[in-house]
Amino acid sequence: MATPEQPDPRMIAAQLRKPSGDAAEVVGDKMDRVNEPLFRLTLEVLHPAAHERILEIGFGTGTYLERLFAGAEELQVHGIDYSPEMVERASRRNAALVDAGRLHLATGTSEDLPFESEYFDRVFCNMVVYFWDQPEGHLAEIHRILKPGGHFYIGMRTRDSMLQFPFVQHGFVLHEPETWQAILGRSGFSCREAARRFDPVIEEAEGDIHLESVCLDATKL
Ligand SMILES: C[S@@+](CC[C@H](N)C(=O)[O-])C[C@H]1O[C@@H](n2cnc3c(N)ncnc32)[C@H](O)[C@@H]1O
Repeated sequence: MATPEQPDPRMIAAQLRKPSGDAAEVVGDKMDRVNEPLFRLTLEVLHPAAHERILEIGFGTGTYLERLFAGAEELQVHGIDYSPEMVERASRRNAALVDAGRLHLATGTSEDLPFESEYFDRVFCNMVVYFWDQPEGHLAEIHRILKPGGHFYIGMRTRDSMLQFPFVQHGFVLHEPETWQAILGRSGFSCREAARRFDPVIEEAEGDIHLESVCLDATKL
Protein backbone atom coordinates (compact mmCIF):
# COMPACT_ATOMS: atom_id res chain seq x y z
CA MET A 1 0.00 0.00 0.00
CA ALA A 2 1.22 3.54 -0.73
CA THR A 3 2.43 5.68 2.18
CA PRO A 4 3.35 9.39 2.17
CA GLU A 5 6.99 8.32 1.74
CA GLN A 6 6.20 5.75 -0.97
CA PRO A 7 3.66 7.12 -3.46
CA ASP A 8 1.43 4.72 -5.34
CA PRO A 9 3.35 3.35 -8.38
CA ARG A 10 0.13 3.43 -10.42
CA MET A 11 -0.21 7.16 -9.70
CA ILE A 12 3.44 7.81 -10.60
CA ALA A 13 3.01 5.94 -13.89
CA ALA A 14 -0.09 7.99 -14.77
CA GLN A 15 1.70 11.24 -13.89
CA LEU A 16 4.74 10.38 -16.00
CA ARG A 17 2.46 9.53 -18.92
CA LYS A 18 0.65 12.86 -18.58
CA PRO A 19 1.52 15.15 -15.65
CA SER A 20 -1.62 16.80 -14.32
CA GLY A 21 -3.06 18.69 -11.38
CA ASP A 22 -1.17 19.46 -8.17
CA ALA A 23 1.19 16.48 -8.55
CA ALA A 24 2.54 17.79 -11.87
CA GLU A 25 4.96 20.19 -10.16
CA VAL A 26 6.62 17.51 -8.02
CA VAL A 27 6.69 15.00 -10.88
CA GLY A 28 8.27 17.63 -13.12
CA ASP A 29 11.04 18.32 -10.61
CA LYS A 30 11.79 14.61 -10.40
CA MET A 31 11.84 14.20 -14.20
CA ASP A 32 14.33 17.06 -14.42
CA ARG A 33 16.67 15.42 -11.94
CA VAL A 34 16.49 11.92 -13.44
CA ASN A 35 16.42 12.85 -17.12
CA GLU A 36 19.08 15.57 -17.40
CA PRO A 37 21.82 13.05 -18.38
CA LEU A 38 19.60 11.71 -21.16
CA PHE A 39 18.89 15.20 -22.51
CA ARG A 40 22.66 15.78 -22.57
CA LEU A 41 23.24 12.54 -24.49
CA THR A 42 20.51 13.28 -27.06
CA LEU A 43 21.85 16.81 -27.56
CA GLU A 44 25.35 15.47 -28.21
CA VAL A 45 23.96 13.26 -30.98
CA LEU A 46 21.52 15.82 -32.37
CA HIS A 47 24.04 18.67 -32.42
CA PRO A 48 21.86 21.40 -34.02
CA ALA A 49 23.17 23.40 -36.97
CA ALA A 50 22.38 27.02 -37.82
CA HIS A 51 18.97 27.83 -39.35
CA GLU A 52 17.47 24.39 -38.62
CA ARG A 53 13.90 23.72 -37.56
CA ILE A 54 13.72 21.33 -34.61
CA LEU A 55 10.75 19.80 -32.75
CA GLU A 56 10.74 18.19 -29.32
CA ILE A 57 7.78 15.93 -28.57
CA GLY A 58 6.88 15.54 -24.88
CA PHE A 59 9.26 18.19 -23.52
CA GLY A 60 7.81 17.98 -19.97
CA THR A 61 9.13 20.91 -17.91
CA GLY A 62 11.24 22.15 -20.86
CA THR A 63 14.02 23.00 -18.41
CA TYR A 64 16.84 22.06 -20.78
CA LEU A 65 15.38 23.40 -24.05
CA GLU A 66 17.56 26.51 -23.93
CA ARG A 67 20.66 24.32 -24.41
CA LEU A 68 19.58 23.66 -28.01
CA PHE A 69 20.35 27.26 -28.88
CA ALA A 70 23.99 27.26 -27.72
CA GLY A 71 26.29 27.32 -30.72
CA ALA A 72 23.65 27.26 -33.49
CA GLU A 73 22.40 30.57 -34.83
CA GLU A 74 18.89 31.27 -36.09
CA LEU A 75 17.38 28.00 -34.84
CA GLN A 76 13.61 27.67 -34.85
CA VAL A 77 12.60 25.31 -32.05
CA HIS A 78 9.08 23.97 -31.51
CA GLY A 79 7.72 21.79 -28.75
CA ILE A 80 4.54 19.77 -28.39
CA ASP A 81 3.29 18.21 -25.14
CA TYR A 82 -0.23 17.03 -24.42
CA SER A 83 -0.07 18.09 -20.76
CA PRO A 84 -1.34 21.70 -20.36
CA GLU A 85 0.48 21.85 -17.00
CA MET A 86 3.81 21.08 -18.70
CA VAL A 87 3.20 23.56 -21.52
CA GLU A 88 2.46 26.25 -18.93
CA ARG A 89 5.57 25.42 -16.87
CA ALA A 90 7.90 25.17 -19.87
CA SER A 91 6.55 28.46 -21.28
CA ARG A 92 7.26 30.19 -17.97
CA ARG A 93 10.75 28.68 -17.77
CA ASN A 94 11.59 29.75 -21.33
CA ALA A 95 9.71 33.06 -21.44
CA ALA A 96 12.58 35.01 -22.99
CA LEU A 97 12.99 32.56 -25.90
CA VAL A 98 9.22 32.36 -26.41
CA ASP A 99 8.86 36.17 -26.37
CA ALA A 100 11.72 36.46 -28.87
CA GLY A 101 9.85 34.14 -31.27
CA ARG A 102 12.66 31.57 -31.25
CA LEU A 103 10.78 28.90 -29.25
CA HIS A 104 7.18 27.87 -29.90
CA LEU A 105 5.49 25.64 -27.30
CA ALA A 106 2.01 24.22 -27.73
CA THR A 107 -0.38 21.64 -26.38
CA GLY A 108 -0.73 18.74 -28.79
CA THR A 109 -0.21 15.06 -29.39
CA SER A 110 2.33 13.23 -31.50
CA GLU A 111 -0.54 11.31 -33.12
CA ASP A 112 -1.78 14.48 -34.83
CA LEU A 113 1.04 16.98 -35.22
CA PRO A 114 -0.08 20.53 -36.12
CA PHE A 115 2.61 21.14 -38.73
CA GLU A 116 2.78 21.03 -42.49
CA SER A 117 4.54 18.14 -44.19
CA GLU A 118 8.34 18.19 -44.61
CA TYR A 119 8.70 21.12 -42.18
CA PHE A 120 11.40 19.95 -39.74
CA ASP A 121 15.07 19.08 -40.07
CA ARG A 122 15.04 17.17 -36.80
CA VAL A 123 12.52 15.81 -34.33
CA PHE A 124 13.37 14.30 -30.97
CA CYS A 125 11.71 12.89 -27.88
CA ASN A 126 13.15 11.78 -24.55
CA MET A 127 11.35 9.28 -22.27
CA VAL A 128 8.16 9.40 -24.33
CA VAL A 129 8.02 6.21 -26.42
CA TYR A 130 7.03 4.16 -23.33
CA PHE A 131 3.57 5.68 -23.73
CA TRP A 132 3.08 4.80 -27.40
CA ASP A 133 0.88 1.73 -27.16
CA GLN A 134 0.50 1.75 -30.98
CA PRO A 135 3.71 3.42 -32.25
CA GLU A 136 2.85 3.29 -35.95
CA GLY A 137 0.49 6.31 -35.92
CA HIS A 138 3.00 8.48 -34.04
CA LEU A 139 5.83 7.45 -36.36
CA ALA A 140 3.75 8.11 -39.48
CA GLU A 141 3.13 11.68 -38.27
CA ILE A 142 6.81 12.24 -37.45
CA HIS A 143 7.77 10.84 -40.87
CA ARG A 144 5.31 13.21 -42.53
CA ILE A 145 6.60 16.40 -40.89
CA LEU A 146 10.29 15.62 -41.44
CA LYS A 147 12.10 16.85 -44.52
CA PRO A 148 13.50 14.11 -46.78
CA GLY A 149 16.69 12.91 -45.09
CA GLY A 150 15.61 14.52 -41.79
CA HIS A 151 16.36 12.87 -38.46
CA PHE A 152 14.22 11.55 -35.64
CA TYR A 153 16.00 10.87 -32.34
CA ILE A 154 14.63 8.67 -29.56
CA GLY A 155 16.17 9.18 -26.13
CA MET A 156 15.38 6.29 -23.81
CA ARG A 157 16.68 3.96 -21.11
CA THR A 158 17.27 0.25 -21.60
CA ARG A 159 14.59 -2.21 -20.48
CA ASP A 160 16.73 -3.42 -17.55
CA SER A 161 17.22 0.17 -16.44
CA MET A 162 13.48 0.83 -16.43
CA LEU A 163 12.67 -2.40 -14.59
CA GLN A 164 14.30 -0.90 -11.49
CA PHE A 165 11.23 1.34 -11.17
CA PRO A 166 8.08 -0.40 -9.80
CA PHE A 167 5.84 2.04 -11.68
CA VAL A 168 6.77 0.61 -15.09
CA GLN A 169 4.43 -2.32 -14.35
CA HIS A 170 1.54 0.07 -14.91
CA GLY A 171 1.18 0.62 -18.62
CA PHE A 172 4.74 1.23 -19.81
CA VAL A 173 5.73 -0.19 -23.24
CA LEU A 174 9.20 -1.54 -22.49
CA HIS A 175 10.93 -2.36 -25.78
CA GLU A 176 14.69 -2.73 -26.00
CA PRO A 177 16.42 -0.20 -28.33
CA GLU A 178 16.88 -3.03 -30.87
CA THR A 179 13.11 -3.52 -31.06
CA TRP A 180 12.61 0.21 -31.63
CA GLN A 181 15.19 0.05 -34.43
CA ALA A 182 13.13 -2.69 -36.10
CA ILE A 183 9.85 -0.76 -35.65
CA LEU A 184 11.46 2.37 -37.15
CA GLY A 185 12.80 0.26 -40.02
CA ARG A 186 9.20 -0.78 -40.83
CA SER A 187 8.04 2.86 -40.62
CA GLY A 188 10.13 4.46 -43.35
CA PHE A 189 13.30 5.15 -41.38
CA SER A 190 16.84 3.82 -41.39
CA CYS A 191 17.82 3.64 -37.72
CA ARG A 192 21.09 3.23 -35.84
CA GLU A 193 22.00 3.32 -32.18
CA ALA A 194 24.01 6.57 -32.01
CA ALA A 195 25.03 6.67 -28.34
CA ARG A 196 24.77 4.70 -25.12
CA ARG A 197 26.20 5.37 -21.66
CA PHE A 198 25.45 4.97 -17.98
CA ASP A 199 24.11 7.99 -16.10
CA PRO A 200 25.62 9.03 -12.77
CA VAL A 201 24.18 6.75 -10.07
CA ILE A 202 20.94 8.02 -8.50
CA GLU A 203 20.90 7.56 -4.74
CA GLU A 204 17.41 6.79 -3.44
CA ALA A 205 16.30 5.76 0.05
CA GLU A 206 15.33 2.32 -1.32
CA GLY A 207 18.76 1.81 -2.94
CA ASP A 208 20.96 3.07 -5.77
CA ILE A 209 19.53 3.26 -9.30
CA HIS A 210 21.74 2.63 -12.32
CA LEU A 211 20.28 3.95 -15.56
CA GLU A 212 21.72 3.29 -19.01
CA SER A 213 20.76 5.99 -21.51
CA VAL A 214 20.47 5.31 -25.23
CA CYS A 215 19.92 7.63 -28.19
CA LEU A 216 18.60 6.19 -31.45
CA ASP A 217 19.11 8.19 -34.65
CA ALA A 218 16.52 7.42 -37.35
CA THR A 219 16.87 8.97 -40.81
CA LYS A 220 13.76 9.50 -42.95
CA LEU A 221 14.18 7.43 -46.12
C1 LIG B 1 8.09 10.98 -18.78
S1 LIG B 1 7.77 12.60 -19.32
C2 LIG B 1 9.33 13.04 -20.06
C3 LIG B 1 9.54 14.52 -20.11
C4 LIG B 1 10.87 14.98 -20.68
N1 LIG B 1 10.99 14.66 -22.08
C5 LIG B 1 12.02 14.38 -19.91
O1 LIG B 1 12.85 13.68 -20.50
O2 LIG B 1 12.09 14.62 -18.69
C6 LIG B 1 6.74 12.35 -20.74
C7 LIG B 1 6.22 13.67 -21.29
O3 LIG B 1 5.70 13.44 -22.59
C8 LIG B 1 4.37 13.91 -22.70
N2 LIG B 1 3.72 12.99 -23.65
C9 LIG B 1 3.56 11.65 -23.53
N3 LIG B 1 2.99 11.14 -24.62
C10 LIG B 1 2.77 12.18 -25.46
C11 LIG B 1 2.19 12.29 -26.75
N4 LIG B 1 1.72 11.21 -27.40
N5 LIG B 1 2.12 13.50 -27.33
C12 LIG B 1 2.58 14.62 -26.68
N6 LIG B 1 3.14 14.57 -25.44
C13 LIG B 1 3.23 13.37 -24.84
C14 LIG B 1 3.82 13.91 -21.28
O4 LIG B 1 2.78 14.85 -21.09
C15 LIG B 1 5.08 14.24 -20.47
O5 LIG B 1 5.25 15.64 -20.32
